[in-house]
Parts: sequence; C-alpha cells; structure tokens
Amino acid sequence: MIVAPDTTALRRHIRELEDGSRRIAFVPTMGNLHAGHLALVTQAQACADAVVVSIFVNPMQFAAHEDLDKYPRTLDADLAALESIGVDVVFTPTVTDVYPEGVEAHTAIHVPVLGDVLCGRERPGHFDGVCTVVYKLLEMVKPDVAVFGEKDLQQLLIIKKMVNDLNLDIDVHSGPTQRAADGLALSSRNQYLTADERAIAPKLWETLQTCAGQLRSAAGLEGGSILDVARASLAQAGFAVDYLELRVLSTLAESESLSEDCALFVAARLGQTRLIDNIQIAAA
Ligand code: PAF
Repeated sequence: MIVAPDTTALRRHIRELEDGSRRIAFVPTMGNLHAGHLALVTQAQACADAVVVSIFVNPMQFAAHEDLDKYPRTLDADLAALESIGVDVVFTPTVTDVYPEGVEAHTAIHVPVLGDVLCGRERPGHFDGVCTVVYKLLEMVKPDVAVFGEKDLQQLLIIKKMVNDLNLDIDVHSGPTQRAADGLALSSRNQYLTADERAIAPKLWETLQTCAGQLRSAAGLEGGSILDVARASLAQAGFAVDYLELRVLSTLAESESLSEDCALFVAARLGQTRLIDNIQIAAA
C-alpha cells in the first residue's frame, strides 16, 4: 500500500495506475475508520482494479463552534486497517495542501435546495464545505467510481447532484449503513457518547423503524401526527431533536405521505453528541 502525503505524490501514483489502464475507485473519508468505512472500501474493490482512500479532516465543513479540534484522528490505526484489506493508495493531504490560501479565501461550491434543508439548515455552510472538498478530491484522484455511505444520505444526494451538474465523468455508488448489534448506525462520533447516552442511542433507529412502519400503513395526512409522536418519544428518551422529517428522495421536499420514494431523516443530540440517521421508504 502506498501512502501519498501530498497532491504531487498522489498524482504520480495515480498516473501509474492510469498508465496500466486500471479502473480506479475512490472512497473519501475523514479517518477514524470503522467497519462502515471498511465496507465501502470492500464495495469499491469489487467494482474497480485499484482503490484509493483519502483521509482528511476537512475544516471547511465544520463551523467555528463544532468539533473540528476534537474530531478523532487515528492515522496509524487507519493505515493499518486499510493495509490489511489491500487498499492500493491512501491520500493523506494536509490542510495547507488542500487550502493553500486558507479556507476563508477558497472558492466554495453550493448545491441549492438539497443543501439548504435538514443538516444544511442546522449547519449553515456545512455542505458547501463537503462539496468543495469532495470536488477537489475527485479532481485530484480522477477516479472512475466514488463510493459514499448511505448513513449520510443527504450528503450522498447532494454529491450526486453536484457530480451531475458539474458534468463530472464519475459513477457515484452508495453503500448501506453499517450498524452495531443494537441498531445504532456506526459513526466516528459514537465514541463521544457516555455509557448512559450509548444505552439510549439505539432508540434513534428504533424510532425510525417504528415511524416508517406506521407511515407505510397510514392513509395520507396522518403522517404529520405520526412524526409528532416520534419526535415526542425521542425527546422523552432524552434526545434534543434537531429534526425528524419525511422528505421526498428526488427533491428533499417535505412530505406527509408516501406518494413518492421518501426517506425519514433524523438528527438529534444526546448531551454534546449529535447523531444522524435515516430510513428509506418506497412509495406506497
Ligand atoms: O462523509 C465524510 O466523511 C465527509 O463528509 C467526506 C465525504 C469525506 C468529505 O469530507
């Protein structure tokens, strides 16, 4: 496995892969890898000849009050995990390499509408940071395929739109959310939870499943009250709910019924830790 610590080294190794006409799949990450990331890498390996993984904690997608400084950085363990599953190239750029003139001075990419709701509303600027770094990484790696997790479903939809709008010749694939045995979606932020919070956390996925089942069997406008009950039950369990909403997958417009393919999206805080999850529901 080759570790490319900057863009020059990355491009050299990518050119070697391209010269061998190898199909390249790319998995961008912020490190602190868990089984969810490794599943995306395995998926990437199944559809390409070589896999490139980036590890970069992107300051542009964190607001000033968010957890950029305490975001877990575990490079040695990450490299060992990627080596053990046969990754070809790991790109580990520095902030200066990605943003030579600083984050504030950098061009930003904004995906309208999809990027303005849910986490876009709660975390202004977050998706501009995600899109900007993903676009740059895609330009640096120039993969045939890029793989993203469905745990960040809104991010996935936004990136698909950006790739389409900007005519990038890249197939965007997605991998299913990996969960702990009790249903909690795997996330680097789970380790911030105290033991008491960790015991409550699976209630998020449990509530999404219950709510999805009720929406599937409900007629039309009952949806609003089903969502209200779900929000109240999360609050009762100790969550501060940022949002729990039913949205149409194609547009992220809010919905109260299942007339089109939808997803329930939730973001809720337990103490200092913000958790997100979602469940997709096919049209009735
Ligand atoms: O999903 C993530 O880990 C990040 O948002 C990504 C796509 C690597 C961009 O920094």
